[in-house]
Amino acid sequence: MVDTSIPVSEYVARRKKVLSSLKGAVGVVFAGDGAPPLRGEWFPNFDFVYLTGIRNEPGACVLFDASNPDPKKRIMLLLKPVDSEMDVWDGYRATIGEALRESTGFETVQRVYRLPLWLREAAKRSKKLACLHPLSVHTAPVSPDLKIFQEVSARVPGCSIEDRSDLITELRMVKSSRELKHMGDAIKATHVGIERVAERIRPGVSERDLHNALIGGFNEMGALRAAFNPIVGSGERSTVLHYKENDQIAEDGDLLVLDCGAEINGYASDITRTFPVSGTFTDRQREIYELVLKAQNAAIKAVKPGVTMVDVDNAARKVITDAGYGDAFLHGTGHQLGLETHDPGTLTKLKPGMVVTIEPGIYLRDEKIGVRIEDDILVTRDGRKNMSSAIPKTVKDVEALLAKSKGGSKSKKK
Ligand code: GLY
Ligand code: MN
Repeated sequence: MVDTSIPVSEYVARRKKVLSSLKGAVGVVFAGDGAPPLRGEWFPNFDFVYLTGIRNEPGACVLFDASNPDPKKRIMLLLKPVDSEMDVWDGYRATIGEALRESTGFETVQRVYRLPLWLREAAKRSKKLACLHPLSVHTAPVSPDLKIFQEVSARVPGCSIEDRSDLITELRMVKSSRELKHMGDAIKATHVGIERVAERIRPGVSERDLHNALIGGFNEMGALRAAFNPIVGSGERSTVLHYKENDQIAEDGDLLVLDCGAEINGYASDITRTFPVSGTFTDRQREIYELVLKAQNAAIKAVKPGVTMVDVDNAARKVITDAGYGDAFLHGTGHQLGLETHDPGTLTKLKPGMVVTIEPGIYLRDEKIGVRIEDDILVTRDGRKNMSSAIPKTVKDVEALLAKSKGGSKSKKK
């Protein structure tokens, strides 16, 4: 049940950090509800995964009750009851006992129907209820813990509700060595996927063929899935930021934006390379490509402890704006990366152990030129380390990679 690619002791340590940061307040993190669908996958709330390594327990939650007089009940795992008839459809689940406690690292595992009782007792003692889930926008449903706390505080006099929704995000942003190892492996798998695309890219190839070659490369390296829908967009579709159909033909003279990431041991990578379908950039394509690369290098250089992603974004944006293409750089320069491709992040200053993407781009629809270049950058004590630097990126290295592939045809520069 627990994803053992992270040791149980690390999950226990993460939970203890949350407990001590709550300073006596009560908190609940829900896995979320849902049934495994026939098509696609059910994904739990990733804060719950971060705290437990459990991905297949819809309806579960972790209760933090720091003031509980029994130290073993200060962090509890609450699971839905076993339903032997449903288990035949969805898989056999463990009953509560020593084996379950040991494998999850929780000293107390109970059934979730007891949550109302535990919450009332915890609220009576603590009088402080802390929202750990991200707060919703006003058009969305109220976040699940706030909704329950509003009901609890209507019944237990004197309770206050506080916003601690950044707490788990801030822990998740700083990666452990084990997490960095998994992310490095995900990047290696992505590298192989990109090489498989480079081997097949040529005028007339379908984006779907390239998509399949990419996924084949991920699978060769042990990835069970892509971290997100790969973007394999040629020609005009290279300018569509989240293009997902991947069902057209790549023509001679097109650029191809390949934005992709394998997932390994639950951790994501997120890399973009832009390739000339013919194997060689035209002069105009190279001009735009070099500009995006210059912006990317400026942003990567700006990454260091103490700066914010706003500073990093400004470094890339200045290069592109000064060259007159500011309005063609339509998105932010990067985001946090981890369990999720777009990992949650706060506007806090960068710290060693964070991993961010750096991905400026220029999109000129009329010229069918879309260029994005994206790497995964680890913030270190001294500055940064580009975790994906082995994947070819300069004009010379990209053209050399494509020339190596048998399918790569030479076409005259325009
Ligand atoms: N790689 C897709 C994105 O960052 O939006
Ligand atoms: Mn990205």
